[in-house]
Amino acid sequence: MLARCRSSTCEVNGEFNEIYLSEVRPDIKATWTTDIEEALTGADFVFIQIRPGKNEQRSIDEHICYKHNIIGQETCGLGGFSFALRAIPAILELVAVAQRVCPNAWLLNYTNPEAMVSEAVYRKFPDAKMLCICDMPIGQQDVIADYLGFKESDLTFKYFGLNHFGWYTHIYDKDGNDLLPKLRDDVLSGQLTEFEDVTVDGEHDDYWQKTHNNIIKGFKAFPQYLPLTYLQYYYFHDEMMEQFDHEFTRADYVLAGREVKVYEECRRVISNKSTRDCELVSGHHGNYIVDIACSIIHDKKDRFIVNVKNNGAIGNFDHDAVVEVPCYIGASGVEPVAVGYVPVFHRAMMEMQKGYEKLAVEACLEGSKEKAIQSILLNKTVPSHRVGQAVFDDLLDANRDFWNPKFYE
Ligand code: G6P
Ligand code: MN
Repeated sequence: MLARCRSSTCEVNGEFNEIYLSEVRPDIKATWTTDIEEALTGADFVFIQIRPGKNEQRSIDEHICYKHNIIGQETCGLGGFSFALRAIPAILELVAVAQRVCPNAWLLNYTNPEAMVSEAVYRKFPDAKMLCICDMPIGQQDVIADYLGFKESDLTFKYFGLNHFGWYTHIYDKDGNDLLPKLRDDVLSGQLTEFEDVTVDGEHDDYWQKTHNNIIKGFKAFPQYLPLTYLQYYYFHDEMMEQFDHEFTRADYVLAGREVKVYEECRRVISNKSTRDCELVSGHHGNYIVDIACSIIHDKKDRFIVNVKNNGAIGNFDHDAVVEVPCYIGASGVEPVAVGYVPVFHRAMMEMQKGYEKLAVEACLEGSKEKAIQSILLNKTVPSHRVGQAVFDDLLDANRDFWNPKFYE
C-alpha cells in the first residue's frame, strides 16, 4: 500500500507508482490511499516521510531567519526548530495510529528534523519499532570513498554524534588500515581542497558541491575528526550567510527545480502509461531505506548509521538521549556499536545541541514559549536572546496553522 498525503500531488505519486510497480514487479499489487488508517492496517513496514506545510512553509521559515540575519536551514538553525514544531505533532499522530493498526510493523522514518522527531517519538512511545534514518552519512561516505579510490561498501566508517551533527573517527579498509590519517594529511598539506563533481541523484548540484567542500574546510579547522557536512552551519555560520542566497533560498530552489521536475516526469509517465524514458532515478534516500528493510527481513545484520537511544553507546553522554551511531540491524532489531568516550569539544557541542533539541520537543508538546526561547538560545546559530525572540515571534505568526494551539492562547 502506498503512502498517504492530503493533496492532489498524492494522486500523481500514487498513479506513477502503480505504473512503475506494474512494470518492475507485476507480481506485486500496488494500491494507494490518502487514508492513513487504511494505509497502515496490516503493514509489515511503513516508510515515512512527511512535510507538514510542504516546501512552501520551509521557504517562509528560511526567509524569516535570513531577515534576522541567521541561517534558516530546514534542519539546522531555526528553520529546523520551526519545522520540528510542525512535524512532531503529525508524526506522533501517525505513530499512534500505527501502534493501533500495525503494532508489529517496522516504521522507517525520514521525516525531518530527524533529531527532534526521533527524540519526541522515543519519549512518547518508548517501545515503538521506529528507526529514524538519514541519508547524509551514506552520501558523504560515498564522496569520501570515491576520493580514496574505494567502493563505499568496502570501507567501515566509525562515527558518532547527533543527526546532522556528527564526526567520523576512523575509516577502515578491509585489511584494517585506517585511512582517516591519509585524508587528514591530504587536507592539511593542501593536496585535497575540493571534491570533484559531487552529484546527487545523478545531477550536479552547486549547493551539495559547496556543502561537501566545506567538509574539507571543517576538517582543516579541527583535524581530530572528520566532520559531517551539516556542521558547516555551526562551525562557519557567518561564512554560510555569505555563501548562500538570502533572496532565493534553498527551499525556493527546490520548489522551482526538483519539485517541478519530479511532478512533470510523473505526469509524463502517467500520460504515457509507461516509465519508458523516465528520467527519475533512485538516489541514496531511496536505496538506503530499502537496504535497511532488507537487512531486517533477511536478518543480514548489515551496518547502518541510524538514530537510536544512546543507552551507553557514547559512554560519556546522556544515556536517554537519541544519538546517531553505527548499528547492526537485523530481524532481532538494532544493535548500536559502542563508541566509548568522546573528547570534550565534541561532547560539549553535542550537549548544547541536545539541550536545544530536548527543549524544542518539550516546547512543542507543551506549547511553552519559555522553553521555546530557552531552546532557541541554545542553538549555535542564534547570537542573542533579542534575535532569538524576534525570530520566534515571526515564526509563531507564520505557523499558526501548524504549531501547538497552546502557543496562541
Ligand atoms: C539531505 C539530508 C536530508 C535533507 C535533504 C535536503 O539529504 O540528509 O535530511 O532533507 O538533504 O535536501 P534538499 O535538496 O531538499 O535541500
Ligand atoms: Mn538527513
